[in-house]
Amino acid sequence: MQTEHTLLPTRLEHVPLAVFAHRLTASCAVAAEVAGLIRARQRQGRTVVLGLATGSTPVSFYAEFVRLHREERLSFANVITFNLDEYRGLSADHPRSYGRFMRRHLFDLIDLPETRIHLLDGAVPDAAVDAHCREYEEKIRAAGGIDFQILGIGRNGHIGFNEPTGSLRSRTWLKILSEQTLKDNSAVFGSLAEMPKHALTMGIGTILDARRILLLAFGPAKVRAVEHMVEGPLAAICPGSALQLHPRATVILDENSAAGLHYADHYRWIDSHKLDWQKYD
Ligand code: PGA
Repeated sequence: MQTEHTLLPTRLEHVPLAVFAHRLTASCAVAAEVAGLIRARQRQGRTVVLGLATGSTPVSFYAEFVRLHREERLSFANVITFNLDEYRGLSADHPRSYGRFMRRHLFDLIDLPETRIHLLDGAVPDAAVDAHCREYEEKIRAAGGIDFQILGIGRNGHIGFNEPTGSLRSRTWLKILSEQTLKDNSAVFGSLAEMPKHALTMGIGTILDARRILLLAFGPAKVRAVEHMVEGPLAAICPGSALQLHPRATVILDENSAAGLHYADHYRWIDSHKLDWQKYD
């Protein structure tokens, strides 16, 4: 069967991978694929629902979105967004919040309608956390579900803030951050003492409900997480490995993050066989 997605092979001989020489070219390819869906939906008079990630990984992807908006007139007027996660205790206008991150890198720079932006509220009172998480799930459902989920992965394999050992079926929830995450992200806060120790995050089950997932992982720090996510085992100790269950997830790498894959030659061998797979499907 032919696919409408350029980064998704038709036959799942292995977790779909796209390895690029540089993270910038990778980010542009991801932006081009998502932009293609945004434009196709515009022609049909339909909205498109994006699940968005934060952290250093998607910064060049957002920069490419902004360039497409400014130079190639890509409009975001038909886009609805849901962000993956937010630090517990930070309101959306806190300088270190992911809400502010999104405004700085994307929302304030494009024509996305304010009413179509959805963020988890890290400052919601304790007693309202569960209801807030349930409402977030409900809003995703009411929007028709997520068409495209953009993800990064932590060094410990987390996706969103779903830290190792959390349930692979989890829905949007409050998570305790792992020591590794506290260490990795505390630089942004100046010190460990100032960093929130909890976060609200879409669950792994929520993420797996997206119709299409593009996970980006760049640089040598992600080698172990990528190896586990792509080559298994499927395990709660590496939340990213849950993507092995998803029929339309593609892992976008650069040569550094792909360096630990044990079966790279096998993938190349399979992918170089331009057989007419459709005959066998
Ligand atoms: P990073 O974080 O993009 O800052 O490396 C990714 C993540 O923790 O999911």
